[in-house]
Amino acid sequence: MGNDRLRLPGGFLWGTATSAHQVEGDNHNNDWWAFEQQPGAIWHGDRSGAACGWWREAERDFDLMRELGQNTHRLSVEWSRIEPEQDAFDPEAIARYRQMLGGLRERGIEPMVTLHHFTTPLWMARQGGWTNPLIVERFAKYARYVAEELGDLVQLWCTINEPAVYAAEAYLLGIHAPGHRSPREALAVLKNMLRGHVAAYRAVHAAQLYAEVGLVKNVRLFDPANPQAPGDRLAAWLMDRAFNEWTLHALKTGRLPFSVKRDDALAHSLDFIGLNYYTRDMVAFDSRQKLLTRRFPAPGAEVSDAGREGAYGEVYPEGLYRALKKVNRYGVPIYVTEFGLPDADDDQRPRFLLTHLAQVHRAIGEGVPVRGVYHWSLTDNFEWCDGWALRFGLAALDPRTGERRLRRSGELYAAICRENGVTPDMLEREGLS
Ligand code: FCB
Repeated sequence: MGNDRLRLPGGFLWGTATSAHQVEGDNHNNDWWAFEQQPGAIWHGDRSGAACGWWREAERDFDLMRELGQNTHRLSVEWSRIEPEQDAFDPEAIARYRQMLGGLRERGIEPMVTLHHFTTPLWMARQGGWTNPLIVERFAKYARYVAEELGDLVQLWCTINEPAVYAAEAYLLGIHAPGHRSPREALAVLKNMLRGHVAAYRAVHAAQLYAEVGLVKNVRLFDPANPQAPGDRLAAWLMDRAFNEWTLHALKTGRLPFSVKRDDALAHSLDFIGLNYYTRDMVAFDSRQKLLTRRFPAPGAEVSDAGREGAYGEVYPEGLYRALKKVNRYGVPIYVTEFGLPDADDDQRPRFLLTHLAQVHRAIGEGVPVRGVYHWSLTDNFEWCDGWALRFGLAALDPRTGERRLRRSGELYAAICRENGVTPDMLEREGLS
């Protein structure tokens, strides 16, 4: 990587990301809580339970963020707390969020708030959740209320986290709540989420003219296992279309997947884009498989800890650069709203941080307007269908005692935040110079 110092632009945002259900605890009024109670739904029978205890005392982790030199944090607000029954908003929930957001600000930490991060209130889930087109206006109503109540404390808003991941895992693969397996429903969900994004984008702006509102897109890269094999090339291309391009293309052109009608509002619904990047897959055509493809890490590549479904993914830093180039087509600022890896013993994460940030630096050097990065996550938290088995934290967390222990990578990230970049020393210590 050479001996140069990788300095990021002045005012760069350095933080971590979380989501309500994964950290707050006792979110029993949403579809995920119900899903967790089903036998076999979560690896090892884990539950979110008290999670990281944020509903009562997020502040101790806010202190940790400040100690670690972070100047931003991405969190989500929980729809089922704010609107526990349809059209009935809970002022106490809003008061707690005001306290949390104020607490971040007092510590010099700029909040970025996501309105929907995988969980849906039970009352809406009972009416079909995101398969029901009526959700679009209901989500917008909630978004407007939240922006009116919290807008003085929040400038940066994300409408929806990872629509394609949500549609695929919850409605195609059946491994996220509500656990359906229906291509037809998955496509309907993706479209309703894109419509929901536009409606929420407008709702937030109606309440707060100068808000900055974006969508969070997980970009996963798909490369043909054998670039010479037309079947592999086609399979990789199709995966990229369905997972990445249906969403990105819709936001660029205003055309929903399989639709010829252009919606101007959809094409102008991004003040920024949030990029979540984790990994890439090698893709091979395989007629014995259900989706006619097999996906796996590149042979011999470094992989992170495995989840219930096998390898979580290849450690592929250049993919972050490629993903940034892919989302740089809108001409809007970009935040890396999540990057991280499951690594319980923290023997990969320090290098991972340096190699991935080098790719962010590279993209910025080529003019890509990256404004900040959010590591997933601050502490270990409830990792959806993988329960507590996958550990993404800069700090280890024991969910039984609530004890936090900073990992070596946590110290390194703190040094990076303070230096506003990566120094030759850091590279040398990790054997990267
Ligand atoms: C992302 C999710 C986030 C977390 C990470 C590991 O897809 O947005 O909630 O689970 O993966």
